[in-house]
Amino acid sequence: MLDFLGDLRRTHMCGELRAADAGEKAVLMGWVNRRRDFGNLLFIDLRDRSGIFQVVFNKETNAAAHEKAGTLRNEFVIAAIGTIKLRDADTINKNIPTGEVELVVEELRVLNTSKLPPFLPSDTALANEEARLKYRYIDLRRDVMQANIKLRHEVALAIRNYLSGLGFYEIETPFMTRSTPEGARDYLVPSRVQPGTFYALPQSPQIFKQILMISGFDRYFQIVRCFRDEDLRADRQPEFTQIDLEMSYPQADRVWEVVEGFLTASFKAAGHTIKTPFPRMDYDDAIRQYGIDKPDMRLPALTDVSDCFAAANVEQLAMSPNRPVLAIRIPKVGDLSRKERDDIKPLFNGKGNAKVFEDFGRLEKSFPEDLAKVRAKVGAVAGDLIVLVAGIAKPGEPASTPTASGKVLPQDGAIYSAAGLLWLALAQKFAYRHKAFEKTGDPSVDYKFLWVANFPMFEWDEGDQRWNAAHHPFTSLHEDDMDKLGGDSVTVMKNVKDPNSPLASVRALAYDVVLNGTELGSGSIRIHRQDIQSQIFSALGMTPEEASSRFGFFLEALEYGTPPHGGIALGLDRIVMILAGADSLREVIPFPKTARAVDLMVDAPTPVSEAQLKELGIAVKPAKA
Ligand code: AMO
Repeated sequence: MLDFLGDLRRTHMCGELRAADAGEKAVLMGWVNRRRDFGNLLFIDLRDRSGIFQVVFNKETNAAAHEKAGTLRNEFVIAAIGTIKLRDADTINKNIPTGEVELVVEELRVLNTSKLPPFLPSDTALANEEARLKYRYIDLRRDVMQANIKLRHEVALAIRNYLSGLGFYEIETPFMTRSTPEGARDYLVPSRVQPGTFYALPQSPQIFKQILMISGFDRYFQIVRCFRDEDLRADRQPEFTQIDLEMSYPQADRVWEVVEGFLTASFKAAGHTIKTPFPRMDYDDAIRQYGIDKPDMRLPALTDVSDCFAAANVEQLAMSPNRPVLAIRIPKVGDLSRKERDDIKPLFNGKGNAKVFEDFGRLEKSFPEDLAKVRAKVGAVAGDLIVLVAGIAKPGEPASTPTASGKVLPQDGAIYSAAGLLWLALAQKFAYRHKAFEKTGDPSVDYKFLWVANFPMFEWDEGDQRWNAAHHPFTSLHEDDMDKLGGDSVTVMKNVKDPNSPLASVRALAYDVVLNGTELGSGSIRIHRQDIQSQIFSALGMTPEEASSRFGFFLEALEYGTPPHGGIALGLDRIVMILAGADSLREVIPFPKTARAVDLMVDAPTPVSEAQLKELGIAVKPAKA
C-alpha cells in the first residue's frame, strides 16, 4: 500500500546534514540506496542528489514504522520523518560527510515502489554501456553521473555570467535553417508545407552570428546545440553543444583574451586555478615540432634526427637521404615487448611514405654510434620509449633538405603527420605506464592549454580529392597574402594536389585552442568585404551562380556596411569531459547517442508512418541489405 505525499514538505537534503543539526526534526525524501536489517534495528541509506543519509528504524521505539521499513527494497521512494541524532562513537562513518549523524524515524511514508533495476546506482562495478544508455534514468542516478551533470551546469553558468559581464548578449539563432559549410553532412528536416524542400539543422550558427554583427549587436554569444552527421568517436556526438561567440572589430588576441577569461572562470567553478595567457604556437611550428595541429603539451616534441645517421647507414637502413627522420620519445614507457610491437604495427602501416623503426634496442646493437647521437639529441633517459619514423621518397621524387628556418616542406607533410598521429596513439596506448596523463592536482601540470594560430587557408581533402577551406570559407586570410588570390582574375584551386599553387601558402587568420591534445575550440577573424568573400568562393571552385544560390543572401548582407568581426566556438561537452576526467563525451551528456548515432532509451531514429511520409511527399526506398 503506497502513501500519498499529502501536505508533507521536505525540510533538508540528505547530504547537507551535519553534527550541528542533531536534535532537529527533519523530513527527508529520496531513494532507498541500501537496506541493512539487524533484527530490532533496520538501517536505510537514503539517497537524494545531494548525497546519502542514514535512516534508522527501531522496533522497540516504533514497531509500526519498523515493520513497514521491512517492505522497502532498493530504489523505492520514501519520506522519512523523525529526529536527527548523533551516532554512537563506534558507529560513526568517516567515509561520508553525513557520517556522524542519523535520522531516527518516527513515521515512514512509502511514496513509490521500484522494479528491481537491471543495475543499481550503488553498484561499484559499472554496467555495460548498452544497459547504461537504455536505462539512462537509472545510470544518471549514480553519484559520478550526478556530479558530471552538476559540473556541466556550473561550467555553463560560469561562462554565461562571465560573458554577460563583458557585455555579450546571448541571442538565439534558428535550428530550422539552411546548410552551413562546416564540413560534415547535414541533418535534414522535410517541409510539409513545401513538399520536396528541406531545412537543415545547423552545424553551427556561423552565418547567423556574422549577420548579428552586421545587425549591430557588437558582442554575441550562445550556448547552443549544433548538429553534424559525421563519423562518431569518443569526442564527437551528432548533437553537441558549442559556446559560440562573435565580436565586432576584434584583433585575434582580443578573442583569445575573452576565451582565456571564460575558461578561467569555468575552471574555477570546477575548483582549478589556471594560468593565462596560454602559450601560443604557429601552425607551422606545431606541425614541425609535433606533427599535428593539436599537440599534447604534456609530452616531449618530435625531434628530427636525420643528421645523426652516417650516409652509408642511411643507405643500409633503406631510408631516403635528406628526408626527415623523426624521433618520437615517450618517457617512462620502457622497451616494448614483441607482442606490443606487433600490436602497434597497425597504427603506422600504410601511413605516409614512412618507414617506422619501433625496435630501438635492436637498431642500437647494429648502429651504436648513430643511435648514441639520436639518444643525445632527443635527451633520452633510461625508461624512454623511442620510435623512429623515416621519410621515404617516392621514385623520381626530389630529395629535400629540411631548412633550419623550420617550415615543413610540402613533400614532407605526410611524414610529419604520420609521425604525429603515431606519437599520439603510442602516448595514449601506453598512458598507464608513462603516467604523464595522470592528474597530479596541480592545474599547471594537469591542464596544458595552447593557442595554435596562422593556419593555412586551404587544405587538400584526400577523401574528396579537392581543396577545401581549412577552417571555413568565411575565414579571413592574412592581409599580406591577399595578392595571392589574384585580384580580379582569381586563382582557382585546381582539384589536383599541387603544393606549389600560390594558394597553398595562403595563411588564414584562424586559431584553435587546444587542451591536452584535444581541440577545444576553433575560430577566426572573418571576411567582412563582399569582394573578398566572392574571391574566396571562386578560389574554392564555386561558380558565381553556385555562390549566389548557396550564399546569395549572405553576399548581399555583406554589402550593407559590415563591420570587421571575428569569433570562435568551443565544445562545451569537451571542456566538461576533460574537467570530469572522463574519456568519452557520453559521460557528460545526459542523453547521448551511441557510436551508431542511436538513442537507445527512446529508440531513435525510427521509421515513420506511411501517412506522415505521404504528407511530406517522401517515398522511402527499402534499405540495401
Ligand atoms: P568547429 O567546426 O571547429 O568550428 O567547431 C568548434 C568546436 O566544436 C566542438 N565540436 C564538437 N564537439 C562534439 N562533437 C562534435 N561532433 C563536434 N564538432 C565540433 C569542438 C570544436 O573545436 N563555426 C565555427 C567556429 C567559428 O569559426 O567561430 C565552428 O563550428 O570542440
